[in-house]
Order: sequence, then structure tokens, then C-alpha cells
Amino acid sequence: MHTVRPDAFQTVLAGEMSMEFKEVIGRRRSIRFFEPEKPVEREKIQTILEAARLASCAVNAHWAKAIVIERDKLSDEQLEQMKTPVAALNIELAPVHIYWYADLSVVNRMKGSRLKELVDVGALAPTHGWSHKFVDEFVYPQILKPMTESPAYAVAASTDVGVAICQALLTAFDEGLGACLSSFNVGIAKELFHVPDEWIPLYVLLVGYPAESWQAGGQRPRPPWDEQYFEGEHGKPFERDEAVVETLKQAKMIQTPATPNNPARIEEIKRLAERLGLPL
Ligand SMILES: Cc1cc2nc3c(=O)[nH]c(=O)nc-3n(C[C@H](O)[C@H](O)[C@H](O)COP(=O)(O)O)c2cc1C
Repeated sequence: MHTVRPDAFQTVLAGEMSMEFKEVIGRRRSIRFFEPEKPVEREKIQTILEAARLASCAVNAHWAKAIVIERDKLSDEQLEQMKTPVAALNIELAPVHIYWYADLSVVNRMKGSRLKELVDVGALAPTHGWSHKFVDEFVYPQILKPMTESPAYAVAASTDVGVAICQALLTAFDEGLGACLSSFNVGIAKELFHVPDEWIPLYVLLVGYPAESWQAGGQRPRPPWDEQYFEGEHGKPFERDEAVVETLKQAKMIQTPATPNNPARIEEIKRLAERLGLPL
């Protein structure tokens, strides 16, 4: 990875230079205005999927499944049917859609074999109690199989896919693209993409080149720190050190926050509406 010069974001957008990890986190925000006709290079889509594939995953099961769809390969009617009330325009403008699913069949198909692969490569070591015997006689029958029968199973599997999706999402920005996770019409998708019954639908990752500026009005509002992060017990906030905040600002992870009624953002939305023929 290379460090980005302060004036180099155009080069970054052209995909010629990578950002530091913290800046990728800082620059990501949900992009909802895409260049509708600007195609996304296939290698960038593959890179996004490669990043998802390398995500950590409980018991190395890899529930994550994704179906990539080029928007223009859907008919107008199919695209219309795919929309939801909170993601209609996102879906219409994004040239590439990556539909994410959790495949609930993996655990009982694999029967612990992916854990045994981890034992074989020394990732799960005997020092920690791991062996093929431990997987076959204890982990699979007493933990994994019962897990698949629990009502919480879908939540566990979806959490796993969420980790993979997050890597995909950040990688889209690292590749100079914009992206937004969105809901979609899961019934239509199942029919159109021949989705197996064991796959549960999660979200679509919409990908394309941003039509809005990369700042897109600034980093979006978050709940107060003290409401989210605790130390030792609930109700005792993890102390937030302002010196760390300052360092993260320097690293461009914490960026200018979006503010209400920002005239520059209002103007940007107006310009986008005119250019893309959208209602205001
Ligand atoms: C799992 C998930 C589902 C989302 N679904 C939608 C959606 O259906 N429509 C939409 O416009 N944004 C959707 N978003 C984007 C969030 O609304 C967005 O994260 C939030 O506005 C905070 O802004 P930021 O992502 O720019 O930080 C989704 C985000 C996540 C993580």
C-alpha cells in the first residue's frame, strides 16, 4: 500500500494508487448517486469478491454466497420489480449489483471438514486442544450440528456473511468506486437468479462510479460515543481519548462530519438531480 498525497484523490479515483487502510474507512460512506452509464471494470468486481472471500469466518464454514448482476442485463420490468421503497433509485442508478446470501446448508454438508483443514495447516493447533478426533467426536456432533437446529442459526450465519460483506464494501472504495448496501425484492431475486432454498437473502451491495463528490456531504451522523461503547460494565463508557481522535483525523479516518442544511451539499444534490433527471 502507498500513502496518498493530500491532493491525489483524483488519482485514487482512477484506481492508480491505493489509500491507507484508515483512510479507506474514513472515505467510505453510502453512495447513492452513481454514474449510471459508466461501466465498472470486471477486475474491480473480482477484487471486491476476493476481499470478501478472505474474510474471517466462524468455524471456517463460509456461509457467504454472492450473485453478481449487471444491471443492464435485467429487463426494465425486472429492474422495476427488484426495487424496494427505501432503495429504488439506488438500484436503478448502480450499474453493478452484488446480491448477498447466507447458505445455511454449508455446515451439514461440510460436517467439520473445513475445521479439519485448519487443523492440518496448523491454524488450529493441538496446544489448543484441536485434532481431527476432537472435530469428529465433539465439535461437529455437539456444537455445529445442534447450532444448525437452533432458532439463532440464521443470525449466526448472517453475522458471518456481514463480515465478508464489510470487506467487500471497503474494497469497493479502495478501488475508487462508490457503494451502498441496500434492501431488495428477495422474492423476485430468488426467481430470477435461481437462488437455492437453503440460501437466506441479506442485502445487495450496489456498486458503481460515484456521480456525487467523494466527500458526499461529509461523514454521516453517528450516535454519541458514550451510548455505544462501554468498559467493564454496561453504562460505564469506554473513555474516549481526544489525542487518539486527533491522530485518527490526521490519518483521515475521522473526517469532516456531515451537517444539517449544508448549502454546499444542497447545491450538489440540486446539480445531480438536474444532470441525472431526478425529481427534487
Ligand atoms: C445492512 C445495511 C443495509 C442498508 N440498507 C439500505 C437501504 O436499503 N437503502 C439505503 O438507502 N441505504 C441503506 N443502507 C445504508 C445506511 O442507511 C447507511 O449506512 C447510513 O445511512 C449511514 O451512512 P454511511 O453508510 O454513509 O456511513 C444500508 C446499510 C447497511 C449496512
